[in-house]
Amino acid sequence: MTPPETGAAAPLSLAVFVGPRGRGSNLLALHAAALEGRLSARIVAVVGSTETAPALERARGEGLPVAVVNPKAYDAEGDGYGDALLKVLREAGADSIALAGYLRRLPSPVVAAYRHRIVNIHPALLPSFGGKGMYGEHVHRAVLEYGAKVSGCTVHFVDEAYDTGPVILQKVVPVEEGDTPETLATRILPHEHAAYIEALQLLAEGRLAVKGRVVRVKAST
Ligand code: GRF
Repeated sequence: MTPPETGAAAPLSLAVFVGPRGRGSNLLALHAAALEGRLSARIVAVVGSTETAPALERARGEGLPVAVVNPKAYDAEGDGYGDALLKVLREAGADSIALAGYLRRLPSPVVAAYRHRIVNIHPALLPSFGGKGMYGEHVHRAVLEYGAKVSGCTVHFVDEAYDTGPVILQKVVPVEEGDTPETLATRILPHEHAAYIEALQLLAEGRLAVKGRVVRVKAST
């Protein structure tokens, strides 16, 4: 994929990948920002793994195009799942992907085809409290049990592993006395939405320069 030139703000043709149980709040925040002109993007596909995913229901309610690709229908060792995702992405004309509650590792052919065009939001400050199995309540519980004094969220590019790609931006949220996983998650969520819109807008404007694992934000022109 060829990123747009700096400052070009070519609208992203964005595919949003959701998980089987996620609420879809990030999806809806991105969609609202796109409709209101705060994010230069059009959501061209919402991709889930099961017909009944709540986030897909919400996407349908918004009139967004939905695709279901069930990884269990494919041989775990083969390329079938990745090929099926690539077909959906190409048919939708997607040039970028936002993971929003998608819990799997993306098949490497997808990562390779969309290198530095795939972003994820994680509800903690990576590289802490990330990796396989670190999602939803598990993340916030781990933060509290560790005794960390701050948490927050991280938007990062996606590579072949879990939560290890170059960091685009992070927002810090203090942990408060008496926090539960639920209260901490609730306080972090609006920061997730804001961070995701901000990061994707930078991507749309061609302002993210990746060198190794360091992402530099170029000045706007
Ligand atoms: C968010 O907490 C996000 O950080 C994580 O999965 C959750 C998805 O929530 N990757 P929602 O479905 O967008 O509300």
